[in-house]
Formats: sequence, C-alpha cells, structure tokens
Amino acid sequence: MRNDRITTPFGAQSTAAEVIEGIDLSGRRAVVTGASSGIGVETARALASANAEVIVAVRSPQAGERAAGDIAASTGNKQVWVASLDLADPASVAAFVAAWQGPLHILINNAGIMAPPLMRTPQGWEMQFATNHLGHFALATGLHDALAAAAGARVVVVSSVGHINGEVLFDDINFDRHPYDPWAAYAQSKTANILFMVEAAKRWAVDQIMVNALNPGRITSTNLSRYIGNTSSSPASFEPSSTAVSWKTAQQGAATSVLLAASPLLNGVTGRYFEDCNEAGPHQPGIRRGVATYALDPGNAARLWPISADMLAGQSRTA
Ligand SMILES: NC(=O)c1ccc[n+]([C@@H]2O[C@H](COP(=O)([O-])OP(=O)(O)OC[C@H]3O[C@@H](n4cnc5c(N)ncnc54)[C@H](OP(=O)(O)O)[C@@H]3O)[C@@H](O)[C@H]2O)c1
Repeated sequence: MRNDRITTPFGAQSTAAEVIEGIDLSGRRAVVTGASSGIGVETARALASANAEVIVAVRSPQAGERAAGDIAASTGNKQVWVASLDLADPASVAAFVAAWQGPLHILINNAGIMAPPLMRTPQGWEMQFATNHLGHFALATGLHDALAAAAGARVVVVSSVGHINGEVLFDDINFDRHPYDPWAAYAQSKTANILFMVEAAKRWAVDQIMVNALNPGRITSTNLSRYIGNTSSSPASFEPSSTAVSWKTAQQGAATSVLLAASPLLNGVTGRYFEDCNEAGPHQPGIRRGVATYALDPGNAARLWPISADMLAGQSRTA
C-alpha cells in the first residue's frame, strides 16, 4: 500500500454542501447516473449548486424530471437536464453516447443495484455485473473523447465496501456454473468498478482524465436495499439493525463523490480509492472499511478491461 495517502479536512460526517462550498463549476458539464434517487440526487444537487450544467441520466424519465425539478428549485440552477439511460441495455447506453455533443468535464458512475434475486439481461449477463460494471464501462469508454476534450475531466466511480466480500469470478462472471449468490455478485460488480478505475486511470492519464473510486458509506434513506429481505444470506452489516457500521444521510453519502468530482484538493489525483472523504487504507479482516488488495491489482484491472470490451462488442454471454 502506498505511503502517500491523500487526506483532506473532510470526514465521514461531512456533507456534499460542505465539500462544494466555495467551488465554482460555471461552464462545466456533469453527468450523474442514477440521479433520480438516493446519493445520486444529492451529488447532482451539489454540482448544480456550484453552477455546473448537470445531466441527470436515468432509466425512468418521470423520476428524472421530478429529481431535476427539485434540484433546479433548490439551487436556482436552470441548467439541469434529464436524459434516458438504462445501463443494463447496451442500446440505451449507445444512444446516450451517440447523442452527446461537446466536452464532458465530470462523469459520475453512481447508479447501481444491490443483491437482487438472479436476473439476467437478454444477453445472458448477470444483472448486477451488467448494470453496475458493464453499463458504466460502456458509458465511460463511449464518452472518452468528450472527456478528453474537457482537458482535465474527472470520472468518479461509486463502488462500495461490499467489494471486500469477493473478487471478480473471471472463470464464471455470469454465475453459469457457480450457484448464484446475490452478495457475491454485488461484491464482484463493485470490485469490477474499482478495477475499471485502476485501468482507466492508467490508460487515460495521457488524456488528462482523472479517474478515482469511492465507498460512499452506509446511507439510510436510499432505495438500494429494495431487494434485502428477498435474499437469504445478507452480510450482517447490511441488516437495518446492524451496529457494525455508522449510518449516513444521503447528503453525507454524496460528499466523497462531490469531493472527487469537484474539489481542488484532488487536482491531479487519479487511480485511487476513497471513503469518508479521504483515501482509504488497506482492508483489514473483520473491519468493514478499506480497500481489498485484489481490487487495486493492476493485473486484475488489465485482465477485466478487454473481457468487458469483448462482452459488449459481441454482446456475448462471456468473453
Ligand atoms: N446506500 C448505501 O448505503 C450504499 C453503500 C455503498 C455503495 N452504494 C452505492 O451507491 C450508489 C447509489 O446507490 P443509492 O444508495 O443512492 O441507491 P438508490 O437510491 O437505489 O439509487 C440507485 C440509482 O441507480 C439507478 N439504476 C438502477 N439500475 C439502473 C439501470 N439499469 N440503469 C440506470 N440506472 C439504474 C436507480 O434507478 P431506478 O430508480 O430507476 O431504480 C437509482 O436511481 C450505488 O452504486 C450503490 O452501489 C450505496
């Protein structure tokens, strides 16, 4: 683990509003996926409050319009737009990318699902890997030229401490042979998020695109836990009664995303994983914090990238 860990004056209790205070994003354009609920709304709100043009990229236009209206009303920023994006549908991602024009300064890969019963896309992809990783991979790589055109763009990848529950199952990404475990699949997708960050930071440094990832913490008020209760094996700290973690509001949960997206404290920083507004240390067994060694492993990251590209290119079951 590196000994130049990045720290900031912010912490677990900091809010997105506190992190964005004094920052002016006039003239910058930001895309926030999944900004119709939870952390995404508060991330988009903070960016809009700093005068960014914000695109709320959502699969439900009605929910997106409600969120955008609320953000515009609370910030006074009229440049909050809604765009249709279903990350589990490659055609939807391709349409979003094709419609994009001009530079993109901030991309926040925030949307996600957690621990549903086994669901597959029409391609046969396991739904959490398809939504949380593949969809965002297609989006970010599709928007690469727009990010490069911004000369100093930032890509923010919302992962989870849940990644410590498992690596990418390179020999069976879609759970064709392993019995499906919703938490192992969530962990796989969130590890894949971090591995994407590692490889994108390396590949895109030449384009001045900064890519960092984060764990937002445990947030009480979002829709992410909609599937909990349908699963038999949820890790203890995901249970509502758990005292193993401290809970955050959505405004606190959005703080690390906003820090990575907009703070001058992060100028020039790329390829790192944060939690509670500071770079995370290595994961220690028994403690639901930190980043797993396998998730930052450059070999794993280099291996996942072409597998992801091949799956999307062929829309095949696996590479
Ligand atoms: N809440 C936590 O404690 C926690 C902890 C660690 C990590 N995270 C991560 O934080 C991120 C945000 O989660 P949240 O807690 O704010 O949950 P949330 O309220 O459920 O927000 C997730 C968003 O993702 C969207 N989404 C789901 N599937 C999609 C798809 N196929 N295409 C486009 N959008 C899709 C949802 O849209 P719909 O409304 O249409 O479903 C929703 O707007 C996730 O990546 C999650 O893994 C959250």
